[in-house]
Amino acid sequence: MHPVGMIIVTLALLLLVEVQIESAESHQKSPNILLIVADDLGYGDVGCFGNDTVHTPNIDKLAEEGVKFTHNIAAASVCTPSRAALLTGRHPIRYGMMPGNFIRVNVFSSSMNGLPPDEFTLGEMAKEQGYSTALIGKWHLGINCLTYEDNCHHPLKQGFDYYYGLPLTNLRDFATGTEKHYVIRGLSEYTELILVSIAIGGVFFALYLLKMEWIGPVVFLFLALLFSMPSMVFFFLFRNFHLINGIVMRNFDVVEQPVDLEGFTARLVNEGKNFLLQRHRDGRPFLLIMSWLQVHTAMHAGPPFKGRSKHGSYGDEIEEMDWSVGEMLKLLDEMEFTDNTFVYFTSDNGGHVEEIGFHGNREGGWNGIFRGGKGQGAMDGGIRVPTIARYPGVVKPGSGDRLPDKQYFLPGFERDVKTYPSYSVPLILVCCVILGEDVYKVHFASPRWHPGTEGCGFICGCHGSIITWHDPPLLFNIQKDPSERHLLDVNEPKHQEIIQEIYHRVNKFKSSVEDHPSEFCIWKLLPMPWLQACCNGTFPYCHCRDPVYTSLH
Ligand SMILES: *[C@@H]1O[C@H](CO)[C@@H](O)[C@H](O)[C@H]1NC(C)=O
Ligand SMILES: *[C@@H]1O[C@H](CO)[C@@H](O)[C@H](O)[C@H]1NC(C)=O
Repeated sequence: MHPVGMIIVTLALLLLVEVQIESAESHQKSPNILLIVADDLGYGDVGCFGNDTVHTPNIDKLAEEGVKFTHNIAAASVCTPSRAALLTGRHPIRYGMMPGNFIRVNVFSSSMNGLPPDEFTLGEMAKEQGYSTALIGKWHLGINCLTYEDNCHHPLKQGFDYYYGLPLTNLRDFATGTEKHYVIRGLSEYTELILVSIAIGGVFFALYLLKMEWIGPVVFLFLALLFSMPSMVFFFLFRNFHLINGIVMRNFDVVEQPVDLEGFTARLVNEGKNFLLQRHRDGRPFLLIMSWLQVHTAMHAGPPFKGRSKHGSYGDEIEEMDWSVGEMLKLLDEMEFTDNTFVYFTSDNGGHVEEIGFHGNREGGWNGIFRGGKGQGAMDGGIRVPTIARYPGVVKPGSGDRLPDKQYFLPGFERDVKTYPSYSVPLILVCCVILGEDVYKVHFASPRWHPGTEGCGFICGCHGSIITWHDPPLLFNIQKDPSERHLLDVNEPKHQEIIQEIYHRVNKFKSSVEDHPSEFCIWKLLPMPWLQACCNGTFPYCHCRDPVYTSLH
């Protein structure tokens, strides 16, 4: 089968989507696609998903005009793999994005990992159909493979004609003022260790300089480097975290370094606007992905949103993000694209429940009635994402019928969809079976929460011995118990049958997964000096401001 995986069809249908299609055939041949992705937005962070104190009028309106997906599951509970799945329609495990160690997202702009170039993306699929394609905002799927500017993972090599944004992700260190240098402060408990190792290295270096000949001087030099280099590199990296990672690119060029978050949301909207204006002029169908930095830390909502919401800086972020959604929809209206544009709004994963700001304030999302959050494997809070689709004249507003097995969703993007009554299997931790009205879900493992809480220190680990494995697995009926609080008795014959069925499906899934080298092994995650972007060529003074936006700085 052509890897024309899924994509929009999958986006919409992977999971228990309940949309009623009027008649796709009668619609125009090439619908435009606007895909809007929020970062870390929780299910309970949006007005139309049940939040009555946060103000999201634009997203709510989109839901009124389209359909709300109340059971849409991201393929992973953290950004990099979940975004890769969104773009490819394939489970992250199939291309090496499995949690093999603590870190399961890209952390450095200069690491070698990312979405493997041979994966077929939504962008490539749209291009094959003659679409003009752009991705604006956060990418988080890598830049280079082996050499600087091979750009093997770059959006422009993955099916997009235009790119503007942060190739990595928003990070706390990009904050300005007192909240800067977050990472290095977080590591302050290791300061002594770092200083001691540098001091020992210094002593050896002195011995080398003094030419103490007890052992050869080269040995002293070696010991000096051995003790001091790792600490110095470590310190340098984290001290300059904002500089080395806060890179803004326009196509292949680094245009801003370090990123200035002030006004960044408005800049993304402006970039989207320019792209739409060009399509208005040339009439080509388009795929536009607006991938907001919000609502991930660092918090950066500017006026008039700063201090406006009832939920502190995090609420301000949500409301600014909602504004930017509204701006995009307004542009569609103004350019008369609305009627022929499929709009899909979603979040990459659930709210980050452990995220605490500098002043002890919560800076992470709220997942409503769902338990757990970002990074917490199988828990619905981290994977059930607020999702909306709107396609005037095709998707009937507020419709609630289950999709038939075979559905042609968008002309040109059709594919036989066998509604496999099961989720994709996020991290092989979860799988579902629907029996009548009931939806059963198992956890093969669960995160190790700190006692008395439902979270870990900063983020829960998700592999090997840092999670608790369950055999037999934990079983829940999430139709009746969406909060996953009532364990079902796995010894009951009916439940045993369900678990057998789930094992059967998991094994079938596993046997369909080919071996793929991990994208998250240590050496692929580490920063590689020769892959480091430096906009003006004099590291570490890589300061640049984008001339297009100079008036904003
Ligand atoms: C609304 O969202 C805010 C921000 O995440 C959260 O603190 C609050 O608890 C939510 N309220 C409801 C009723 O869900
Ligand atoms: C790069 O930026 C730094 C800091 O602003 C500056 O000192 C340096 O001269 C610049 N280098 C070039 C080649 O422009």
